[in-house]
Parts: sequence; C-alpha cells; structure tokens
Amino acid sequence: MVIVGAQWGDEGKGKVVDLLARDAEAIVRFQGGNNAGHTIVRDGEEFKFHLIPSGILYSDKTCVIGNGVVVDPRVLLGEIDGLRRAGVSVANLRISANAHLIMPYHVLLDTAGETKLGKLSIGTTRRGIGPCYADKALRLGIRVQDLLDEKILRTKIRAALGPKQQALRELAVQRRKQRKEVGEEMRGAPEAVDTPDPRLDVHTMVEEHVSFGHRLEPHIADTARLCWEALDADKTVIFEGAQAALLDLDHGTYPFVTSSNPIAGAATVGAGVGPTDISEVWGIAKAYATRVGAGPFPTELEDETGDRIVERGHEFGTTTGRRRRAGWMDLVALRYAVRLNRMDALAVTKLDVLSGIGPLRVAVRYRSKEGAVLDSFPYHQSILHSATPEYEELPGFDEDLGECREREDLPAAAHDYLRYISEFVGVPVRLVGVGPGRDQVVWLD
Ligand code: IMP
Repeated sequence: MVIVGAQWGDEGKGKVVDLLARDAEAIVRFQGGNNAGHTIVRDGEEFKFHLIPSGILYSDKTCVIGNGVVVDPRVLLGEIDGLRRAGVSVANLRISANAHLIMPYHVLLDTAGETKLGKLSIGTTRRGIGPCYADKALRLGIRVQDLLDEKILRTKIRAALGPKQQALRELAVQRRKQRKEVGEEMRGAPEAVDTPDPRLDVHTMVEEHVSFGHRLEPHIADTARLCWEALDADKTVIFEGAQAALLDLDHGTYPFVTSSNPIAGAATVGAGVGPTDISEVWGIAKAYATRVGAGPFPTELEDETGDRIVERGHEFGTTTGRRRRAGWMDLVALRYAVRLNRMDALAVTKLDVLSGIGPLRVAVRYRSKEGAVLDSFPYHQSILHSATPEYEELPGFDEDLGECREREDLPAAAHDYLRYISEFVGVPVRLVGVGPGRDQVVWLD
C-alpha cells in the first residue's frame, strides 16, 4: 500500500505509517530527501526523522530508502547515530545502491539559487534537493554505489563539478557582496571570485565520501529486489511518501513545488515495482491546511484564527523550524489530490487542534477574479494565484479530543465535519488523529 500526503506536506504521515506498519514486512521511502521531517512520539519519547523511514522503530521490519530518494550521506549517518544512541537498532535499514547523493555543491547551489531569485524565491528547505534531482536528470549524479569505488567517485565528482564552476563563481561573488553589505570585515587577502568554496575541494570530498561509504556499506542493497521478494510472498509493503500532492513537480503548484513526485504513481518508479503491485492508496490530510514556503494557498488565514491554529497545532517545520502558513480545509484541492492519487481512504490528522476554534469553514469552490465559478482545481497558474475560495460553514466543537479513542467518543459536530469531508471528496475517512501520541487515534471502520 502507498501512503501519501494529500495537501502541502506536514500532514502527520509518519505517525500513520508508524501505525499501519504494524502489519507490514517492509516500509519503503520512494522520493524526496531530508527536506522531509517526521516526528513520532512513542512511550513519551520523541523521534525525528528526515530520511529514515518511519517504520524503523519496529525491530522486525525492513526499512528501505528507495532508488527515488536523494540521500545526504552526512544527514543519514547522523540519523543512524542518533537512533543507535537511543537504543534503536538500524540493522534492518537498507539503502538503494541506485539512490542519488546530495553533495555539498547541491546544498550550496540550492541556497545560491534561492538568493538569486530574491522575491521570487520558492522558499525551499535549502537541503540541495532540486540541484540533486537536476543532476540526476542531467546524468551527472553521484549514486550511493559510487561511494564504494574511490576511482569512480573521483571521476564522477570531477565531471559533476565542471559544469557548475560558473554558478559557483557567481556564488563566491554573491558571498563577497553579502559580506560587504553586512559590513563584515575581510580578514587577510580578499576572497578571489574564482576560488571555490573549500568544502568543494575534490580531494577532501572524495576522502570524506569514501569514509561515508565504508560506514554505509552494510546497508547498501538491491532494494527493488527486496520489495519484489516481499510482494511475491504476499507480504504487506508500505510505500511511504514525503511532501504531498500539491508540491508534486508535475501536478502541484509549479514552480512552488518540490523536485520529485510525491504521489502514489511515483512509488513504482521510486521503489522499482509495477503499478499492479499497489493494492491500496491512503492519503493523509490535516483537519485544516498548512503550507510552508512560498506559493498559492487559497484558504490561507492571515488573522487571529490562523495564529491560533499555528499555536495550537505547533505549526513549525520539523526540518527548518519555519512557521507554517495555516488556513481552512480546502476541499477543492483535497478532491484533486484524492483523484490524482486514486486514493482509497483518508486519514485526517490533528482534529483536536480545531477544538474551540468556532464555526469551521471548508472551501467548496473557488471564484476567479472575473467571477467564474471554479469547481475543480485550476491548472492555470494565474487563475489559481488570483482565485478566492468560497466556503461552507459547519458547526465547531469545544470538547478536548485528546482522550477520544472510539468513534463514540468524538462529539457529533466532529463526526459531521468528517462526514462532510468524506462525502465531498468521495472516499471514507478511516483514521482520525486527536493528538501527537502514538495511541491518540480513532479508527472509524
Ligand atoms: P525543496 O523540496 O527543499 O526543494 O522545497 C520546495 C518546496 O517544497 C518549498 O516550498 C518547501 O517548503 C516545500 N517542502 C519540501 N519538503 C517539505 C515537507 O516535508 N513539508 C512541507 N513542505 C515541504
């Protein structure tokens, strides 16, 4: 089965994957990188992951970083060390030999690209995701398997760095300009614009990455084959998406998107399985909407209600700490995500956050600036940017939902809210989140 984000990310996918993983043989990440962040609270202990699949807390499951993921080896090793310190075994972690590596120059180019865009910047996580996927498409990428052969690694790093010299020179110029602007004293000889960053020294980079390779070697595998073996033995494999439908490179709010495809169909390419291997698709949506970074967000609330949602929902990024933008549930966008992923079911998370917020609004259509009614998510960027949502108002609820465990525990207004969502988008809501804890959920059928 595939589990994907149904909005703009941060829906709490990690917690749902952690729950559903109980019956699975393997949990497989298929796209994205350490731009993602999952927080799982187990027995009062908080675990934060960026790259490692959420199933790692089960010692008997295989956790796979698939070929479609972009891996920053330094970050991955940091997570492995952190888990070991917490007494969690990583013996069952497998990393695709074909996954691409985020190299130091990707991180620098991401930041440089954003700085250069100025007001038009995307608000990326600056983790090097876009430049790494760009190199993959250009066939200049370095893959996990390259860590195991120093000679190949050196040749590939040299080949990849070559075409970037111009961009990196610009980066050096920019750095100088910025330092001048903030009045930072230039010590010693001024930085020559054609001297690349010391972090980009080929020799250092190769040495460092060879040592990463030594440490990661026991985990490197043919992960597609691992998936086939589990699927052919009729075992459950969970394909865990990062980010979400509206950040999809092809179907999201381009260019304000990530550089991979976080939708169910991409699980096949990003893990190496066929479409008919996928039996079920679950989408995860928050009971409201949030977005981090720039880009259109029709139901955004820039008022006290938005602030309350942010405070009550602790809407700050796991990866960058940025304050998320918050707004009402957008059913036009959600219905689009449901179809795009051909979802079978939804899990609605953080319903407890809406308690005491007052009458709840859900966007049921948009209106273009010319006055046209838009029932479906507009493909045209300019229309979407200027569209205003039209709302249905539903009664709110004031009860604290944190202790609800059975469907009967939820107040009637909460049921009505969930029913409205489910009927509007045409799939059942099967699971509801009522707090951060692993047990703070209500199964609806
Ligand atoms: P990138 O993925 O770092 O290139 O960022 C591209 C866009 O996707 C930015 O708007 C980011 O804020 C957003 N983004 C990337 N990863 C996540 C995530 O895990 N949750 C929410 N937004 C994300």
